[in-house]
Amino acid sequence: MRLPFLQTSFVGQQFHFLPICASTNAEVQVAVVKNDAIPEGLTIMADHQTAGRGQRGNVWQALPSQNLTFSVLLRPTFLAATDQFALSMAVALAVYDALVALLGPAAGVRLKWPNDLYIDGRKTGGILIENTLRGTFLSTSVVGIGLNVNQKAFDPALPNPTSLALELGQPQLDRAAILSTLLHHLEARYLALRAVGGGGRQRQLADYHAALYRLGEPARFTFPADPARPSAIGTIQGIDARGRLRISFTGQEEPFSLQEVKFVE
Ligand code: BTN
Repeated sequence: MRLPFLQTSFVGQQFHFLPICASTNAEVQVAVVKNDAIPEGLTIMADHQTAGRGQRGNVWQALPSQNLTFSVLLRPTFLAATDQFALSMAVALAVYDALVALLGPAAGVRLKWPNDLYIDGRKTGGILIENTLRGTFLSTSVVGIGLNVNQKAFDPALPNPTSLALELGQPQLDRAAILSTLLHHLEARYLALRAVGGGGRQRQLADYHAALYRLGEPARFTFPADPARPSAIGTIQGIDARGRLRISFTGQEEPFSLQEVKFVE
């Protein structure tokens, strides 16, 4: 596959399409280990991933030749490790922007914390970012994105999957065009994050909250790190400076990390 209509200055300008690999995140990590001078923007896409990695140690399942599974190398050396959620938000918002551009503002595109892509309450994509540090700052980030594009049938064990083709009611979408749109938005959100000052971080946080799935709506949560704690209905209030999810339970607000809380679908 090639990207003839790519409109970026560096993201995706170096593009490798692999017919098959274990994980595109692993491919980018190996490329960096082999050559530490690779410029940011390198993008590796696989037509078929045999061991796609997901959040929380899960596997990412995607049928061959139907979806987008790709990873982008970034070098966000301007970000302190304590601010790494800012990059996670930028990437999630980039995919959100691309999906809104493709499906329109009324399609119900939402970001489920921390960075799942939902359309009308169903998951269509996920993001796995793997960082390395130099001292207290980020050195490299491998941004892995999986997006269900043309797949119509899913493993029944998955809670609520969907794809762009299902949501649009179309048999076949052009993966190269969608990838070009994604890379364009990724570069734009990354450059906005990198630009210092001008209230960019506050704007990003406001955009993230505006896109957040179930913000202000009561939902049931479980607490995997505290098995004795019974599930409870709470209301998402937003995220804090470290990217933790702020949920209020009977008026009392608590921050949770990814390992500490789960939505009940
Ligand atoms: C999630 O669990 O929601 C995150 C899924 C991320 C999957 C993508 S597919 C491309 C890249 N390579 C991987 O091994 N994982 C990410």
